[in-house]
Amino acid sequence: MMQSIVIALLFLQAVPYAVPGEDAVDPYTPSAANAGASPFAGEGMAKAFHGQDGIRRIIDRTLTAAYADPVIGEIFEGHDKVRLSRTLFEQFCYLLDAGCAYSGRDMIAAHKDLGVQRGDMNRLVVLLQQAMRAERVPFQAQNRLLSKLAPMNHDVVQK
Ligand code: HEM
Repeated sequence: MMQSIVIALLFLQAVPYAVPGEDAVDPYTPSAANAGASPFAGEGMAKAFHGQDGIRRIIDRTLTAAYADPVIGEIFEGHDKVRLSRTLFEQFCYLLDAGCAYSGRDMIAAHKDLGVQRGDMNRLVVLLQQAMRAERVPFQAQNRLLSKLAPMNHDVVQK
């Protein structure tokens, strides 16, 4: 009896590769290292981004623009926006030390079949900059985040 309750509870628990409302992805091992960089220290960056609410607005605005974009929109087409919104929010929130853990895949696994080129990366950065400006994130804080993301180029852009 006890055993079957435990098994039922295990199944009820959402695993990060099969979250209700999202398309399932191939199983992987969640790890903070999957976020691709270490977080900023202190509360300065989280404050500059207006906490989790501000980060949420920036991610939503960036992804809405990316899916509708004439240049990079087709790369996003057909990919689960619900999961991407969640995992990208978690990643930014984690890196900005705004109180989240990252449960998504590493950057190589997430982008391996997408054929992303350098120009696509530049375009996404422009959309992210527009979203950060709309949120009135101070310019210096914007650039600190972009510098943290820049080395991920190697894992995202197809060689
Ligand atoms: C430093 C830059 C980037 C970061 C930090 C980043 C971050 C992420 C994250 C966290 C995920 C979700 C991982 C998961 O589902 O477990 C993801 C997936 C994805 N990214 Fe990026 N990304 C970057 C650049 C790009 C670029 C330049 C493009 C295209 C123009 C792109 C297109 C996508 C797409 C389409 C997915 C969904 C893949 C799928 O559904 O399997 N990403 N990215």
